[in-house]
Amino acid sequence: NKGKYEHYMQKEIHEQPESLTTTMRGRLIRGGSCKVKTVLLGGLKDHIKTIRRSRRIVFIGCGTSYNAALAARPIIEELSGVPVTMEIASDLVDRQGPIYREDTAVFVSQSGETADTLLALEYALENGALCVGITNTVGSAIARKTHCGIHINAGCEIGVASTKAYTSQIVVMAMLALAIGDDAISSQTRREAIVDGLIDLPNKVREVLKLDQEMKDLAKLLMAEQSLLVFGRGYNFATALEGALKVKEVSLMHSEGMLAGEMKHGPLALVDENLPIIVIATRDACFSKQQSVIQQLHARKGRLIVMCSKGDAASVCAGGSCRVIEVPQVEDCLQPVVNIVPLQLLAYHLTVLRGHNVDQPRNLAKSVTTQ
Ligand code: M6R
Repeated sequence: NKGKYEHYMQKEIHEQPESLTTTMRGRLIRGGSCKVKTVLLGGLKDHIKTIRRSRRIVFIGCGTSYNAALAARPIIEELSGVPVTMEIASDLVDRQGPIYREDTAVFVSQSGETADTLLALEYALENGALCVGITNTVGSAIARKTHCGIHINAGCEIGVASTKAYTSQIVVMAMLALAIGDDAISSQTRREAIVDGLIDLPNKVREVLKLDQEMKDLAKLLMAEQSLLVFGRGYNFATALEGALKVKEVSLMHSEGMLAGEMKHGPLALVDENLPIIVIATRDACFSKQQSVIQQLHARKGRLIVMCSKGDAASVCAGGSCRVIEVPQVEDCLQPVVNIVPLQLLAYHLTVLRGHNVDQPRNLAKSVTTQ
């Protein structure tokens, strides 16, 4: 039931404040008599120590689920100190890449039925790794075959383009970081800030959804373009990949997400006054590096659309002209949840304006159960 919405994708984008609330329900513990701020992940409780002691955490997934893990990687590394590597499921299987008994392999999948991810799971089980599932589908193959796991509880996702599952996956993995991270005094302030940030996140997503009309206007401006680049780095490298994936998947416009740190190693050759480029430059440890990327793109007359934190419009575009998307600032590791929303809206409006099928994009299936 689409309710007041025209498409499932539109509905699922707009219900993210509620889906995120459901994802966190009963899992965050704030204050109380002992004033501890922590998380409870029932499905993992017997395995947390093993995960903490593992030699490596390997995230495995496809498409949007892979991107969600990429967004969560830095906070898991920071809080757990365990090295984290990333594997696209099909590539791991193609290479028969090394997976060891001392590894924790985390399988991220909305449907829990993706053939490539399932094959990678069988491979990791054969190699003796502890296998953890992060899925949205209770009783799915990945939920059943992993040793333990977390349901993201985002509610049924119908649009082929994954939207609310992506943001719930990131939130679950941020909670995973809190659960496996040690509770050293040195990280206590940081951990508390993340818990507070999680609690307030649905409100921030509600706020960023107000950019709907602005994104529709931007879509009108871009609808006839052939191509769109998205540059991000740090926590928002994943946002660049996921924003571009949404645009190409539903609006059928060529779009690439790129690591801004790689700009000078090739992509810069594409820059001219015609090609639209979205640069994600919200406040975090990479902000000044992104400012210099913007300056270099300006110097080559790049056609820029900059996503920045509220109040930063003048400083990110100093000395050049660009269109700005201002978003609320949240704790750095949660910023990808806020930043993807305007790009989901942009992809949605581009698709409607270009006259393509929003919920059933050409050639795609919701769940890819064949190799
Ligand atoms: O169900 P899964 O999360 O395992 O699906 C993985 C990908 O097929 C999926 O995320 C795909 O990339 C989406 N259609 C992207 O919106």
